[in-house]
Amino acid sequence: MEKKESLDSSLKEIVSVCKRRGFVYPGSEIYGGLSNTFDYGPYGVELLQNLKQLWWKYFVHLREDVVGLDSSILLNPKVWEASGHVSNFNDPLIDCKNCKTRIRADKFLEDQKGEGFANGLTLEKMNLVIKENNFACPSCGQRGTFTEARDFNLMFKTSHGASAEDALDIYLRPETAQGIFLNFKNVVSTTRRKIPFGIAQIGKSFRNEIMARQFVFRTREFEQMEMEFFCEPGTQKEWFKHWVDYCMNWLTTQVGIKKENLRVREHEKEELSFYSEGTSDIEFKYNFGWGELWGIASRTDYDLNQHQKFSGEDLKYQDQVNNKKYVPFVVEPALGVNRLFLAVVADAYEEEKLPDGETRTVLRFSPKIAPVKAAVFPLMKKDGLPEKSREIFADLAKLGNIEYDDGGAIGKRYRRQDEIGTPYCITVDYDTLKDNTVTVRERDSMSQERIPVSGLRTWLFERL
Ligand code: GAP
Repeated sequence: MEKKESLDSSLKEIVSVCKRRGFVYPGSEIYGGLSNTFDYGPYGVELLQNLKQLWWKYFVHLREDVVGLDSSILLNPKVWEASGHVSNFNDPLIDCKNCKTRIRADKFLEDQKGEGFANGLTLEKMNLVIKENNFACPSCGQRGTFTEARDFNLMFKTSHGASAEDALDIYLRPETAQGIFLNFKNVVSTTRRKIPFGIAQIGKSFRNEIMARQFVFRTREFEQMEMEFFCEPGTQKEWFKHWVDYCMNWLTTQVGIKKENLRVREHEKEELSFYSEGTSDIEFKYNFGWGELWGIASRTDYDLNQHQKFSGEDLKYQDQVNNKKYVPFVVEPALGVNRLFLAVVADAYEEEKLPDGETRTVLRFSPKIAPVKAAVFPLMKKDGLPEKSREIFADLAKLGNIEYDDGGAIGKRYRRQDEIGTPYCITVDYDTLKDNTVTVRERDSMSQERIPVSGLRTWLFERL
């Protein structure tokens, strides 16, 4: 029987609106679920797509110095030896001998002793602190029941090949980055890219996380949007600053996240990943507190050097202009799509008290990322109003995801659209049949204006 991982209670409202309104469902629900797996429903998938498209636009299409890639999830297992993931990609694990709960020791110690306490602590030191303090298990409350902390490798193992004898033990990739390093030489030789330039990729990654109970914040299957920016050694500091500013600017001006919910935090030396000489996280103020949204790391020439060593291939870059040959340095902005999803829902979520005493739940998404751009309502289901509404729907659908809704009172239809974050609702009434105008209601202010049908598509286009 699978042990259930209960969700963080601070996320209750977010989880509830996501389920109620078709954004996120628990995975394998009709079979009792599979903990920490989630399926994205009709509105969730639209929101994910919009975030990915907006990232691709700003990190690939609008940049003359970045190209895209889609590499395999399954890679030769030597890749992970070379990258250091086989020996270093671990989290410290303790078990409660009484109730069998598995706990990430560093996070547990930070819950007990304060943020940052576990930075740089060795396993031995963690064991000492746990013993000295005789902490109680957060699950069963018993004291003195923890096992010694040990390294737990986060990579998922699987088997590649049909027959047992020939099958190769491989891993599901824990980051998309390595597929980019493996193709560095291919991209240089087939696209004649000159350094500095970046390779961007969106794809699934897998980590067998020890503690995964913050909804889609930390899951075992997730999607990443990563970019490896290759530059000349010595220029990485400038590029690092450029990308931190570029990412922050994208979050506030394009995705529309409020500035006060974002901050940049530089990693302490002891916290740095094994491949990084410097990392800054863009953090978001989640319901449970500040947490990592986007990691920007200065990966030096570590990965390309390692792959040269393990594969025997020359991965140096020939700089024709300056007549130099070198292994490029890398700056990497790495963002989780699902974590961004959680941040935008939390940022947009509001329970608003209305003058009539009622409360409405509204998701104030920027129109650029809203899952539904506009909803079209016939006032009544008769007298030609549905036909006229469908005509308008078909015309506006050329712009993006539009919804047609003729069910229930207009007030109820507005509330439904508020909860999924639709910025505009368009009502077709009896006046429409006379003067060819419609009422457009704006989600945030709830103000209404009359707009000619002939200009509606342009009006909406300008606001998206
Ligand atoms: N290639 C570098 C790398 O993967 P990371 O900081 O481990 O760096 C990058 O991951 C981003 O991926 C994080 O900032 C976060 O947004 C997302 N991420 C990492 N682990 C995750 C998980 N278990 N669930 C959801 N998102 C995750």
